[in-house]
Amino acid sequence: METPFIFGKIATERNFTDREVETTSLVQNFTSLINTIIISPRRWGKSSLVNKARKIALEKDNNLRICHIDLFNVRNEEDFYSLLARNVIKETSTKWDEAVETTKSLFSRLVPRISIGTDPANEVSIDFDWKEVKDNPDEVLDLAEKIAKKKGLKIVICIDEFQNIAEFEEPDYFQKKLRSHWQLHQNVSYCLYGSKRHMMLNIFTDSSKPFYKFGDLKFLNKIDTKYLVEFFKKRFTDTNKNITDEACHLIVELVENHPYYAQQLAQQSWLRSENECTVDIVKEAHSALVEQLSLLFTTITETLTTQQLNYIKALIAGEKSISSAETMSKYKITSATSIARSKTALVQKDILDIQASKVSFQDPIYAYWLKTEYFNNL
Ligand SMILES: Nc1ncnc2c1ncn2[C@@H]1O[C@H](COP(=O)(O)OP(=O)(O)OP(=O)(O)O)[C@@H](O)[C@H]1O
Ligand SMILES: [Mg+2]
Repeated sequence: METPFIFGKIATERNFTDREVETTSLVQNFTSLINTIIISPRRWGKSSLVNKARKIALEKDNNLRICHIDLFNVRNEEDFYSLLARNVIKETSTKWDEAVETTKSLFSRLVPRISIGTDPANEVSIDFDWKEVKDNPDEVLDLAEKIAKKKGLKIVICIDEFQNIAEFEEPDYFQKKLRSHWQLHQNVSYCLYGSKRHMMLNIFTDSSKPFYKFGDLKFLNKIDTKYLVEFFKKRFTDTNKNITDEACHLIVELVENHPYYAQQLAQQSWLRSENECTVDIVKEAHSALVEQLSLLFTTITETLTTQQLNYIKALIAGEKSISSAETMSKYKITSATSIARSKTALVQKDILDIQASKVSFQDPIYAYWLKTEYFNNL
């Protein structure tokens, strides 16, 4: 039997809830070609949101094309150019012969290698000498703008895990190159998003960096309780089961409104409920989830230094002024510098998140496990 919740995949249609304001605003940016930057920690729903806005924008505007590139596995400039060129060509051509024609006519310095596979309906591969492209990337970087002009289109290029460009060789130089081309584009806009908040902030909010003030900067939040509760109720009734109000609220509370975990815990609770999901069932499902993840959490914890763990312990205990002499001595934290160092390292490891100087754990289940299992057993 199909289960009513999904996690780890893009949430679409009836699996998608809330985000009304964000969707409207993003659709507006897409159709008006306003550059957008979206930042949120992992698994809060960036890809799902962009996907939804993309669909709506495409329905609204026949001349709009939206390319989607994921830099998850991309670690160098050559791969970046390759993905960009292929996606732009693919998204803006309806037939392979058109793709070949466009490619031939738009490159003067670079020579594309075009090969046609056995199934001409969908197998055309356009390739370049990527070393050559790297030395001379102008034509690839301006390709979308040229195609848009030639075909009377508007193009949005969405780039997921954009912070990975900060790990390329000579990242500042590369970013300068991108920005200097992209800012001249009239018919193309960019939607750049990523999950490493500190890296994304570095790229987009540091006034000495090329992408400073590149576009509309959006911070995606978690999902409001009201929407999650409604969503759980609907998915349960759709599958001929019930869930009590208290049980719904408990799921939201236990996962602190985290979208991915909300679906995962709801799923585990649903599986355990024959007819009606109650608070006790949710508690049981939550314990099972913590148990299931504990091996992963142990592995993460083993990578932490003693000073980092001492600092985490103080955070978990809810200490308000960790840098006071008394608290530092209580948790064996050696100095204020040690706190600063631990904080930076833990943010880099995606364990902590700092927003408006408020420190929180990115993973609510990990925080729960630390509190109830790890530190409790020490
Ligand atoms: N609008 C939504 N409604 C319901 N569930 C959602 C929504 N957005 C995200 N989720 C849940 O969160 C999970 C992760 O969503 P998504 O992949 O869009 O996040 P992401 O921020 O792109 O994650 P990553 O950082 O891993 O790329 C989804 O599989 C789904 O379970
Ligand atoms: Mg994503």
